[in-house]
Amino acid sequence: MTVGGLPSRVELPEATATEALGARLAPLLRPGDLILLEGPLGAGKTTLVRGLVAALGGDAAEVCSPTFVLLESYALSAGGIRRLHHADLYRLRGRGSAPLDEVGLGDALDDPWAVTAVEWPESWAWLGGLAQRVLHVRLDYRNDGRSARVEWLDSQEDER
Ligand SMILES: Nc1ncnc2c1ncn2[C@@H]1O[C@H](COP(=O)(O)OP(=O)(O)OP(=O)(O)O)[C@@H](O)[C@H]1O
Ligand SMILES: [Mg+2]
Repeated sequence: MTVGGLPSRVELPEATATEALGARLAPLLRPGDLILLEGPLGAGKTTLVRGLVAALGGDAAEVCSPTFVLLESYALSAGGIRRLHHADLYRLRGRGSAPLDEVGLGDALDDPWAVTAVEWPESWAWLGGLAQRVLHVRLDYRNDGRSARVEWLDSQEDER
């Protein structure tokens, strides 16, 4: 099933389109949701988070790829979601046994007022089991721009 009336593959010819996709997804989110952002280096994962944060009343300028910290949190002021936690697991990729609680991911997912977005989740298939509602976004290079596939991970379709 498609998410929010989006086509099964969304064409993103430029970076502003990636931010706009984030803004389009923002109203679909509720506190407790987990967003898994897959795709190769530079595919636009952080750009999409920037669009989400802006649309949810946060400061988009705060959003960058966390380099030394693996998890950042941004205050939001719209839509009943108070924070967005943003993890980038690039430096842990391939380490399926990496202690993600040390990154703060467990606390992020326990935060009842927040949504959590995770870049580079591919090494941890079980991450998708840690939240009731999981939005899966796959970004890829396409021509000079990017494309995206967006879907809710199985089983909770009737709630939406
Ligand atoms: N749809 C698009 N078309 C062209 N360029 C884009 C598009 N979306 C994002 N970009 C650009 O791609 C670059 C990388 O974006 P971004 O940092 O969001 O990628 P990322 O997937 O988070 O990368 P990383 O894997 O390093 O974390 C930025 O310069 C951004 O402006
Ligand atoms: Mg990034």
